[in-house]
Amino acid sequence: MIGSKPAVPSRFEHLPFAVFANSVEASRAVAAEVAALIRQRRAEGRGAVLGLATGSTPLSFYAELVRLHREAGLSFAGVTTFNLDEYYPLAPAHPQSYRRFMQAHLFDHIDIRPDQTHVPDGTLAAGAVDAACRAYEEKIRAADGIDFQILGIGRTGHIGFNEPGSARRSRTRLVTLDPLTRRDAAGDFGGEEHTPRYAITMGVRPILEARRIVLMAWGQHKAEIVRTALEGPVTPQVTASFLQEHDQVEFVLDHAAAGALTRFRTPWLLGPLEDQGLSWDARMIRRAILWLSQTRAKPILKLTDDDYNEAGLQDLLAVKGSAYEANLDGFYQLQHTITGWPGGRDPRRTKPGDAPVRPLQAPSAAVFPKRILVLSPHPDDDVISMGGTLCRLVDHGHEVQIAYQVSGANAVSDESLWRALRFAADAGLSGREGPGQIRALCAEFEATGALPNRPELVAWKGLVRRQEAIAAARICGVPPARLHFLDLPFYRGVGRRRQLGEPDIALMRALLGELRPHLIFAAGDLDDPHGTHRLCLHALRSALAARGAEPWLKETELWLYRGAWAEWTPDEIDLAVPLSPQEVLRRRSAIFRHETQKDQAVFLGNDHREFWQRTEDRSRQLAATYNTFGLAEYEAIEAFKRYSLAEFLSSAPL
Ligand code: F6R
Repeated sequence: MIGSKPAVPSRFEHLPFAVFANSVEASRAVAAEVAALIRQRRAEGRGAVLGLATGSTPLSFYAELVRLHREAGLSFAGVTTFNLDEYYPLAPAHPQSYRRFMQAHLFDHIDIRPDQTHVPDGTLAAGAVDAACRAYEEKIRAADGIDFQILGIGRTGHIGFNEPGSARRSRTRLVTLDPLTRRDAAGDFGGEEHTPRYAITMGVRPILEARRIVLMAWGQHKAEIVRTALEGPVTPQVTASFLQEHDQVEFVLDHAAAGALTRFRTPWLLGPLEDQGLSWDARMIRRAILWLSQTRAKPILKLTDDDYNEAGLQDLLAVKGSAYEANLDGFYQLQHTITGWPGGRDPRRTKPGDAPVRPLQAPSAAVFPKRILVLSPHPDDDVISMGGTLCRLVDHGHEVQIAYQVSGANAVSDESLWRALRFAADAGLSGREGPGQIRALCAEFEATGALPNRPELVAWKGLVRRQEAIAAARICGVPPARLHFLDLPFYRGVGRRRQLGEPDIALMRALLGELRPHLIFAAGDLDDPHGTHRLCLHALRSALAARGAEPWLKETELWLYRGAWAEWTPDEIDLAVPLSPQEVLRRRSAIFRHETQKDQAVFLGNDHREFWQRTEDRSRQLAATYNTFGLAEYEAIEAFKRYSLAEFLSSAPL
């Protein structure tokens, strides 16, 4: 077994698992086990047989195998591999094919024999697929079965591409991809319309025939499905749950992917916190009380001793003395997150006896007006995620600067650009391209429904979004001179395999140095489909680290907002900004300026709401939740989580 097993086995978990600080350490541990297996098999005079996965999850695992080959003499001569799946139809030479992925990340860098590596063939004629799938399983049997199977998990709970509904006994076959899976892959293919609809995948049955199975998962966006697979019932709706029926399986997780497991989310259900190395600190108390209020469907101040006792919170009761005391603690903690003055109060408008504005803590709390930097990964995240707060900060007289980190060009359809090009052509405008070329591009779109994928057209798509962002910021009262379009270069890379580079960090560093903000608002929403937000946050972290000990940083406070796809849970929230009905409408109007994004939101996944609808539903829902806890009834709430810079730089929060 790899890594550390949980200290107290819990009745909630149906599978062994190990949690590591981050994916690199976790991958190293898995690679060490695979290396030991390869060496052991070699000593026995036969080659190991590995079942391999693709996607973003195993990248650091493959990097570590390559390192072991180069630096520790690990030889793959004699090793045989079988990959789980391949998109269909797709040629091996296609940049997104899994064959190409395996060559690029592993096979080209190790001494494995090419004819010992197997990836399903995405080029077969439809009529030949069945026989090829049977032959693939036959080859696995001829190799004496898979010794060690690596798996990732999709957000649908798939292993391989066995989407919900796949049977326990399913065989290797052609499958239709789930819409959520296609959405997750769309970034790799440059849009959902270019993403394959089918794949060939090893079935659940051959996967379960492997002698040892390790499923790896990283990141908060995998947390819910990991919990379902590990703690939920065995069901074809979550094919990873079938792994519960295998006796040599292990989940290897990073902190974020493990975050939704009962032992981490509601640890008191497992027994005394001290036994788990935890304690009843303020955050834990709030979490438990909010959980209790929700599970009992009662406002906080109405919870009784019986409620605490029956729900297994006797220890908390003992710590606080009574339900009354515990209730007040939880209630005040939540109440103190609420402020209508997200940048602090204007001293000129403060009267003696006004309540303090509690959530602000940095030395700059008293500075007024403040220089505030809002970081928006895409050109619309600012208004979608914190449009109401943005308007308030401007109205209160702060200097609000907004930096758009990436161009967002990938989410502009060819049709949207064609409309702009037609306008230019019809108005007789032309740039360097000349009117003839613009007309030719329009004609090409009108004939084929697509525009060529050339760098200058991608740049123009970015400009379309830039105009939308300028118009939206105008609604919020932020003039163009305070907008910064960073166009971070990492975004020009492909999909989930993009990486940050020095140029990205240099741009962020320069921005921080120029503005020296008192407050920074940034996207801590790591559930966005293509991982852009995560990289944008890492760019901020690296840039802040590079600015190191500069004195102005001591004054800076950092607030993270969530985005279009998720919201902080109430126990995580440090700052809750209530919005009036008028502010909700103003925010809607700002979001409407992002016209090219209307379809984008609707087509992503099964949720056919536009961004303004998601935003309103989310912020109204949060207001309703605060109300069910027994706090005042607001129209909507936008929520933020505070990080001190030291905390942000040292933790891997996300
Ligand atoms: C890949 C595969 C899939 C992925 C899963 C997770 O060969 O079969 O099951 O493991 O979709 O993908 P990532 O790692 O990109 O999140």
